[in-house]
Amino acid sequence: MSFDFTGQVAIITGAGGGLGRAHALAFAARGAKVVINDLGGARDGDGASLSAAEQVVKEITDRGGEAIANGGNVTSEDDMQALVSQTLSAFGRLDILVNNAGILRDKTFSKMSLDDFRKVLEVHLMGSVIATRAVLPTMQKQEYGRIVMTTSSSGLYGNFGQSNYGAAKLALVGLANTLKLEFSKFNIRVNALAPVAATRMTDDIMPPQMLDFLTPESVSPAVLYLCGAAAPNGEIITAGAGTFARAKIMESKGLYLGPDATPEQIAAQWDVLADLKTAESFDQGSNQSQKFVVNAFENKP
Ligand code: NAI
Repeated sequence: MSFDFTGQVAIITGAGGGLGRAHALAFAARGAKVVINDLGGARDGDGASLSAAEQVVKEITDRGGEAIANGGNVTSEDDMQALVSQTLSAFGRLDILVNNAGILRDKTFSKMSLDDFRKVLEVHLMGSVIATRAVLPTMQKQEYGRIVMTTSSSGLYGNFGQSNYGAAKLALVGLANTLKLEFSKFNIRVNALAPVAATRMTDDIMPPQMLDFLTPESVSPAVLYLCGAAAPNGEIITAGAGTFARAKIMESKGLYLGPDATPEQIAAQWDVLADLKTAESFDQGSNQSQKFVVNAFENKP
């Protein structure tokens, strides 16, 4: 399978450093024209500067690639519309969006201000919503598009001190779960990446010996895979330090206890109904609902 992106145009948000920069260099190395968006603020989202994005553009053009810088804020509809206009006037098309921009405002839930909660949701969740809405009309018209949401193990599994970030990151999986259904008829595929990499986001969270393995570059092949012509739809790929895996929301087959079930029965049968050996996943919520109705029907007296 070829992952040559020649002739394609990729927008990567938050690509002025860290993972976004690595993704941008990887796309450019395989022929894509790249739009480097970055607000250029601090890790907590304060401040702004175009220089981080411009620096990455220079790295790409120095290597013979094509790239432009954009200093837009992913939380601004106007900025994201301008990003799309800038992309189309510079390169004439737009094939890929990697929603990567993000900030951190860690604190335990009881100490976290609502402002810190909202700000993190705003950048990760609404930033991805707004950037995605801006690119979709072009992708729908050309009947081709690849979109990646950047989720996190903090969302999939939890992380002490990251209730705001974890909530935002799992919300992106929920967003992808529905977009994969609504836009598949336009050959637009929406997937999620859960990366682990040493960046300014993790530099005080993980010990230095761990950080040496966790290069951002080791994550980017997963993004290229999710943006290829034969990309999957609605998958979550986890990636870090050279390991790649698939994450999936699954549920146990369950046990029919009937309409008069009691909590005592659930407690007594927990090991059986919670057994994940025969767990299944569902392409959409209604298929899961159907399981309940089928069980009830089949067990009708
Ligand atoms: P980073 O801090 O180096 O990169 C994030 C970039 O987003 C920064 O360059 C920042 O200026 C930009 N940004 C922030 N707010 C923005 C806004 N409103 N508009 C435009 N750009 C904005 O951090 P890193 O680690 O490279 O993170 C990239 C993505 O990967 C984030 O979504 C993060 O949550 C996610 N992630 C990272 C993990 C890691 O281990 N580094 C783990 C799981 C997820």
